[in-house]
Amino acid sequence: MTRPLRFAALLSFLFAAALMPAQAQALPAPLLAARSDEEHDPSPEPADQTATPRLASIGPYRVLRELGAGGMGRVYLAESQGRIQRRVALKVLNEATFSPRLLAQFEVEAQALARIEHEHVARLYEFGADDNGRPWMAMEWVDGEPLTDYCDRRQLALDERLELFAQVARAVEHMHRRGVLHGDLKPANILVCERDGRAVSKVIDLGLARLKSASGEETDLVMGTPAYMAPEHFGAEPGSVDARADVFALGVVLRELLVGGAGHTLDSLRLAAAPWLAAFAPRAAPSEELRQSGAKGGALARLRRSSLRGLQARLEAGLDRVVQRASALRRDERTASAGELASEVEGELARHARAQVLRRGALALGAAATVGAGLAAGLAALI
Ligand SMILES: Nc1ncnc2c1ncn2[C@@H]1O[C@H](COP(=O)(O)OP(=O)(O)OP(=O)(O)O)[C@@H](O)[C@H]1O
Ligand SMILES: [Mg+2]
Repeated sequence: MTRPLRFAALLSFLFAAALMPAQAQALPAPLLAARSDEEHDPSPEPADQTATPRLASIGPYRVLRELGAGGMGRVYLAESQGRIQRRVALKVLNEATFSPRLLAQFEVEAQALARIEHEHVARLYEFGADDNGRPWMAMEWVDGEPLTDYCDRRQLALDERLELFAQVARAVEHMHRRGVLHGDLKPANILVCERDGRAVSKVIDLGLARLKSASGEETDLVMGTPAYMAPEHFGAEPGSVDARADVFALGVVLRELLVGGAGHTLDSLRLAAAPWLAAFAPRAAPSEELRQSGAKGGALARLRRSSLRGLQARLEAGLDRVVQRASALRRDERTASAGELASEVEGELARHARAQVLRRGALALGAAATVGAGLAAGLAALI
């Protein structure tokens, strides 16, 4: 059977499930151990002793403090113990995440990852295993916060958000050119820090998703974050996910930057039962979701230093189309590459900047004309 047929069958099954909550609840356990965003809340989880080593040092690094925990393990701020004390983000992976065979496989791939040098990609410095055989990875420490949090907390305007997003899309283009897929692009894996007073985004967790899905091959699990995962992650043969899956994830991130969580059509109960449904639910254009979000729309616009009408107009003028194409469910209808997506966003920024210059020019001309008319009227009165 060809893949499109298989995919179509899966799609129709999922849509039926989406329409009928009772059926959705009766679904067989999916081949999926993905976490929904709600599951990121660490509080109800009993502490996993194997994942929380109380170690002062791991490999050649001295642990300073914990930065956080995710699906694959814990991340620490650590310092190298050599003469030059470099601070790194040290990710210590859960033993259960993958086997020694997969670590060996990753070692080969890590050479490619470590060669990726880009202003907007956090470097992978090195990796190894501690005395207990627990794998760790030392990455560039980004003293920042997740993309959407950064933008919302500072109430960044649309153009400022687009600039940060374009940096990310260019970074992903760079990775793809070097044959590296990210596989788990989402705001938590895009941190924003400030350098010389300028906001700089950095893609983190490079190549880890590949390790995750490789571990999935062994255990029949698909790992990732459903809201950002393209349908082909779920329907296709494992090897057929390509760079366009990253483009899909970027499209979802862009939508979030533009209109936040407005317009999620799947209720949280159904998503909790079957988080992968999100990947198959067609979404309305961002401006339409904004319209449907009712009273929330005004607050979302204010958070972007815009009026509801102004935000709506910007979306309808072009950004709607950019988002819809990037996150098209069908891969052949999707924006072909991260570079193309970056160009579209940069084009939109340039168009808006030109429009603003013209508008300011027109306003200045209007003001000059008013002054001129006033002067003429004054002169006429004197004569
Ligand atoms: N290179 C880094 N620099 C600074 N903080 C980091 C870095 N890598 C991870 N963190 C922080 O550590 C925490 C846990 O990260 P982790 O990557 O384990 O989780 P996640 O991204 O939420 O999920 P996933 O396991 O899918 O990647 C997050 O709060 C993240 O911001
Ligand atoms: Mg991460």
